[in-house]
Amino acid sequence: MFAVVLLCIACFAYWCWCRQRAKTAEPPPLPGAWPLVGHLPLFFGDGYKLWNRINNMVDQVCDVGGIAKINLGPVTAYIITDPDDCNTIATTCMEKDPVYEFTKPWFGESLIASRYEVWKNDYKLLTPAFSQIILNTFMDVFNSESRKLVKELEKHAGKGPFDLFTYLRHNALNILCLTALGVGFTDSNLASDYLHAVKSTFDTLVERVLKIWWHSPYTFAWSKLKKEQDGYLKILHKMSDAVLQKRKSEMFGNTCVKKTITTGTKFKPFVDILLELSVENGAFNDEQIRAQVDLMLVAGQESTPNALLFTMALLGSHPDVQERVFSEIQEVLGEDRDVEKMDLSRLQYLEAVVKESLRLFPIAPLIGRKLERDVKLKNYTLSPSQHCILLIYGLHKHPIWGPDRHEFKPERWLEPSKVPFNLVYGPFGLGRRQCIGKTYAMMSMKTTLAYVIRSYRIKADYTKMRLKYVVTLNPDNAEYYISIEKRT
Ligand code: HEM
Repeated sequence: MFAVVLLCIACFAYWCWCRQRAKTAEPPPLPGAWPLVGHLPLFFGDGYKLWNRINNMVDQVCDVGGIAKINLGPVTAYIITDPDDCNTIATTCMEKDPVYEFTKPWFGESLIASRYEVWKNDYKLLTPAFSQIILNTFMDVFNSESRKLVKELEKHAGKGPFDLFTYLRHNALNILCLTALGVGFTDSNLASDYLHAVKSTFDTLVERVLKIWWHSPYTFAWSKLKKEQDGYLKILHKMSDAVLQKRKSEMFGNTCVKKTITTGTKFKPFVDILLELSVENGAFNDEQIRAQVDLMLVAGQESTPNALLFTMALLGSHPDVQERVFSEIQEVLGEDRDVEKMDLSRLQYLEAVVKESLRLFPIAPLIGRKLERDVKLKNYTLSPSQHCILLIYGLHKHPIWGPDRHEFKPERWLEPSKVPFNLVYGPFGLGRRQCIGKTYAMMSMKTTLAYVIRSYRIKADYTKMRLKYVVTLNPDNAEYYISIEKRT
């Protein structure tokens, strides 16, 4: 009898040991590692190859339990798609991954890469600038720019596929400039130069992330890549500096006298709110204002046109969904009038369409967090000083979404109470450090879509899209798969 009890205790102790070991063991490596260099060769190539790689990783990581390890030479990164583990990281690790530091020459100490302590303070100061009351005052801009877009598209109606993305980018840039800076781009060549410089700077950022020998600021300082990046940043900073100085002298004249801040809900571009904060309580200096403004322009510019194109491509490929959206728009807006803020909450099917499109094509398919201490997940404890990537694209394709998870089904959003989507959905990020422009983006995109869909029938084949990863997910070849026809 004594021997049996002893045996049971021994078995129990062994089971506990095995469990503990499994929990503290390292996550499995992603298949395909090479000796010494690890997975580095898999990430060579352009943005298209990179996207294919990320795409393949989704199933590979899911197959090994929702978390895997990749080695890029001496650098180790954990890739996570498991919903619980993603949420644990997003809610407990507040610092951004060190690669976000690479954006600092561009965006300085603005929200995207700042340390948590700085972020907390700035986020609190900036949140009122994105309040519903302020955003409602942007409706005039959303309406007038959408009307302009519809007019510009007229020449392509019934003429076959064309590069819709370029129109959407210019439209988004103008909306952002008007709402963030209070001025639009009147010169379309200047706007093209700006967009080109943004795109090229993103290219240099991705190249630096992938070429790990440029990670150190010392090696990077000597690189040709840095020289290139500096050249583009000069163009970008010069433009935002010029607008900032102009706005400043308009607001305060040439004296440094404190002005009384007018409250109320009249239209106030983002930069004015920052300038007021700097006068009121010395919250930001000129350089910090420029950094926050640069970030707003780029964060909005690199996301809303992409999301709009994905949504339009999906609508064009699903005529039944598009006609349901059209009927809803007719029902809510009736005749050809401006979209008002109250209309937006009534366009629920349109909202479901945008959400579903962001699920299938999240603009930021991966986000990074820094592990500062051991982090205990469901099956592993991650050690600090390694990179940690939350694969949002994998989260959105998780089996929890059901057997139809690869399909475009906006209807799934109409009864969200039935499914805990918020746990497995992160197009605007996860945890506290989410997108501050989320409501702005939804309002602006829904207005643009309402205008375009009530004027045109979109035709597309989204399976022909060529996608590339350049920090954000980019659709590239609209001129081959999307066209419009005027609605009668
Ligand atoms: C479809 C549209 C948009 C999507 C999908 C999107 C997505 C995101 C995501 C995923 C993040 C977190 C990035 C990370 O943690 O690495 C983020 C951050 C941010 N976004 Fe957006 N965004 C959109 C539109 C906008 C707009 C229109 C603005 C500004 C007007 C904006 C401003 C920002 C800013 C300032 C941050 C940094 C916030 C912080 O770290 O606290 N975004 N966005």
